[in-house]
Amino acid sequence: MNRNSLSRQFNDKLDEIIGEDLPLLKKVKKFVVSSGGKRIRPITHYYFSMMLGYKGREWADVGAIGEIIHAASLLHDDVIDDAGIRRGKPTMNALFGNKSSILSGDFLLACGLEHLMKLPMSGPLLMIFTRVLRELSTGELLQMQWESDVKIPDPMYERIIHCKTGSLFGAMTESAAVLSGSGADEAARCRQFGEIMGRVFQIRDDFIDYFGDESANGKELFQDYRRGIVTRPVILLRKEISFREKKALEDMWNTPARRLSGQDMFFGLFEKKNIRKKLAVELETEIHKLMHFVRGYSKSQYTDDLMEALRALMVPVQ
Ligand code: FPP
Ligand code: MG
Repeated sequence: MNRNSLSRQFNDKLDEIIGEDLPLLKKVKKFVVSSGGKRIRPITHYYFSMMLGYKGREWADVGAIGEIIHAASLLHDDVIDDAGIRRGKPTMNALFGNKSSILSGDFLLACGLEHLMKLPMSGPLLMIFTRVLRELSTGELLQMQWESDVKIPDPMYERIIHCKTGSLFGAMTESAAVLSGSGADEAARCRQFGEIMGRVFQIRDDFIDYFGDESANGKELFQDYRRGIVTRPVILLRKEISFREKKALEDMWNTPARRLSGQDMFFGLFEKKNIRKKLAVELETEIHKLMHFVRGYSKSQYTDDLMEALRALMVPVQ
């Protein structure tokens, strides 16, 4: 099945799972079903279910539940970030206000979990997905505390991106193993794959913000820098510079006006320390780990499609 027909199947499932008890919730549903999201989480779940030999139809249900959790977390996130635009369209909070947006997110979560309880293996699946909800919330709380702190320790940054992105990707691949009746060891390995994939996604996003192609990605560059949000490129830079340079960076980062006027010095350090290349190589190494895992399964249309999706995550090294 190609990606377009897969996306259509997931949209039909989302339409089935999400209720529309009130006029506003009808709009929420339309918002999720026709959001323009790439459905990467459900599609990854599908590739894994097929690769592991699953013969049932519930991959569509579990995939859609993962997408619903993702959509609910974005409704909440856009309130927290006071975001007005997502994927080129006005956000729910911009259109209907913060309160409606938060409650709609809660409603989506309830629809997803209610549907999950009707599935085979609902017990283990519930464990997997409630862990995601817990980690999403912890990740967001930690991020609120640390995101502007240029001295954020590496393990804290890793914990935040694990909670924000890795956890749900890990659930998508682990749940495929659970549906397919794989043993505990294989399920743990699949989870680890998803967690690494989530990390790659997040760091790729960080990379694109500084070094991306504005016209190809449709995203304005240097948003994280302007907002003073510390991401992987800045963490890598801090590891490479002298004590004095670190002090200068800290002073600059903590004063928005100085951060903006010191932009040339900052980007000069990026050049000097080759941060773009180091980050691209780091991503490449992680993607190779993922490809190595996929090669451990017999070659099929699904492993080919998964390899293709992984290749597409590479960023240019130069
Ligand atoms: C996007 O981050 C946000 C997330 C991936 C997770 C948000 C999680 C919560 C708000 C916790 C509560 C949610 C639930 C449903 C339990 P970003 O702001 O870095 O990226 P963006 O540019 O896409 O907004
Ligand atoms: Mg946000």
